[in-house]
Amino acid sequence: MNDLKGNTGYEGWLRYSKLTNSELRKEYHSFFEKIVVTETTEVLTSAKDELLNGLSSILDTSLEVTNIPEGHSYVQLITKSNVDLLSGIVSNNLPSQLNDEGYLIKAINDNNALVIYGNTDKGVLYGVFHLLRLLQTKTSLINLEVIENPKNQLRMLNHWDNMDGSIERGYAGKSIFFEDNRFVEDFSRIKDYARLLASIGINGTTINNVNVHEVETYLITPKFLPDVARVADIFRAYGVKLFLSVNYASTIQLGGLGTADPLDVNVRNWWKEKAKEVYSYIPDFGGVVVKADSEHRPGPFTYGRNHADGSNMLAEALEPFGGIVLWRCFVYNCLQNWRDRSIDRARAAYDHFKPLDGQFKENVLLQIKNGPMDFQVREGVSPLFGAMPNTNQILEFQVTQEYTGQQRHLCYLIPQWKEILDFDTYAKGEGSTVKSVVDGSMYQYKYSGITAVVNVGNDENWTGHTLAQANLYGYGRLIWNPELSSEEITDEWVKATFGTDPNVIETVSEMLLSSWGIYENYTSPLGVGWMVNPNHHYGPNVDGYEYDRWGTYHFADCKGIGVDRTVATGTGFTGQYFEENASLYESLETCPDELLLFFHHVPYTHELKSGITVIQHIYNTHFEGVEQAEELKNRWLALEGKIDDARFKHVLARQEEQAEHSQEWRDIINTYFYRKSGIADEKNRKIY
Ligand code: GCU
Repeated sequence: MNDLKGNTGYEGWLRYSKLTNSELRKEYHSFFEKIVVTETTEVLTSAKDELLNGLSSILDTSLEVTNIPEGHSYVQLITKSNVDLLSGIVSNNLPSQLNDEGYLIKAINDNNALVIYGNTDKGVLYGVFHLLRLLQTKTSLINLEVIENPKNQLRMLNHWDNMDGSIERGYAGKSIFFEDNRFVEDFSRIKDYARLLASIGINGTTINNVNVHEVETYLITPKFLPDVARVADIFRAYGVKLFLSVNYASTIQLGGLGTADPLDVNVRNWWKEKAKEVYSYIPDFGGVVVKADSEHRPGPFTYGRNHADGSNMLAEALEPFGGIVLWRCFVYNCLQNWRDRSIDRARAAYDHFKPLDGQFKENVLLQIKNGPMDFQVREGVSPLFGAMPNTNQILEFQVTQEYTGQQRHLCYLIPQWKEILDFDTYAKGEGSTVKSVVDGSMYQYKYSGITAVVNVGNDENWTGHTLAQANLYGYGRLIWNPELSSEEITDEWVKATFGTDPNVIETVSEMLLSSWGIYENYTSPLGVGWMVNPNHHYGPNVDGYEYDRWGTYHFADCKGIGVDRTVATGTGFTGQYFEENASLYESLETCPDELLLFFHHVPYTHELKSGITVIQHIYNTHFEGVEQAEELKNRWLALEGKIDDARFKHVLARQEEQAEHSQEWRDIINTYFYRKSGIADEKNRKIY
């Protein structure tokens, strides 16, 4: 039994439980009599506070902060301005081994002291959290030497929060920023959130929905800017830059100009003045995220202009202040006629943006969802990655589980994201992975990185399902270093969150690591996607989107199912990939099973590489998925007594719901295909 009592999950992975192992306590004490900080910046103060808080709690002792270490063991925080203190201790070229956010942690003085060095205070802050993680995971510090640099420059989150307090696709309560069309009164929760973000290396965030409605349009006016600035202050102290989603048509709504034509001089001037005003409140404002000409949002198309015109206009206004424009590529015709098989939503982003390569200003980044459709449990990787050598790109993941169980089902997404980051685009021959596109190394982008729609709200435990915290934690860790394995990330999170009982670690890790596959098993098969209830997207509805205008079809009839996206006979989407992938997906022989129905329309009797038919695969995986969901619940149940009561019961309730709801999925999907195909289950199981 570990010492977790009455835990609501609020602390997340920053729990810092008291260390009881006496050997390790002795070792850590030999490093940590004092904390030495001789410089003062806001971020260093956060670093010092975090260290003090973490160490005192883990070691259950009060530590003194001083600037003279003499005669004691100590941990010292140092930035470049004091690098001389390290001469003779570290190599002279240390500063050049680190970027602005990298750090060194090194045991010195015969393991009687430790330094955390960063070229900047942000590096030190990240180093502090790294050290605390080592303590949480009970790692020895003897002869420690760690050098870390984040692989991605922008490591962001997007909130889809509205000012009325609701969150679009939010599954963990209301907004932590807004209520009743204004900012919340108490900002203390925002500070705790900033701590969580800094601990996983997040360095930028938007706070409002990409769908910028009436009230939120005013976030860039004096009505709200003082509050926005207060939030920016809180984030700044933790190294997180604040961005806003803006309404493309602000010149009409706020400026009274009657137009948002990006080539109109008055429009351009209005934005230049607006930028000046915003920066007068927030000198380090990160920039803007824009969803334009998509799902009924305004954009440059109205004026016969393109996305380069639109984004460049904003980029020009932000440029003097170092701001950037994150222009979303989630742009498609959302008024599709389901009868018309020639249009393919999957093609849209590439068709719109690829021809514009090279026309965007240097401070524009295209924000591209991981897949060409919309965050399905399985879909192809967006062919835009790697296809625009002359245009900055940032990848967008979805941490909030819109289509993956809405934080009522367990679906740990790190393994999915790893597959996407490791996907070889072949843009510059073999090894042109998505991660090397978005870390900027492949095409030397000026700005690049990864962003994601976040999964937090004001539920006590932030994420609704406590185990969904692992998605946020893992997201930050993975984009800091995409080389980390899912297992490493999982292990860190479980230890920090639930302690180091081997049985707990093994069980929770296995639950997490198997959960994406399980969710996929009992939901929509073989990459076809959708099959959810319209609007809220929770639960099965095979034809929910079949005759709708959103371009989300499976085309199941009595003979077969799937979307023909081939060049030969279908929509031609496969042709958007570079040759190796284009031919891989084009051919039925080589197309991987898990994406078969994403790329091909096949008879139910089509034999998969696994040797079984499509219809039998559907039946098998759906029966199996339900058994596995039941097993997830049982595995958790077996931890009774090893996890504190509050979190045990909370997670159990979610796992019970998942186990039960998975049956609904199984029975609706299996019954639908049995009735369509008329083909019986070989194993004669119950289908309705
Ligand atoms: C999905 C989601 C919407 C969201 C959109 C977007 O379609 O369901 O709620 O607005 O993505 O990414 O802009």
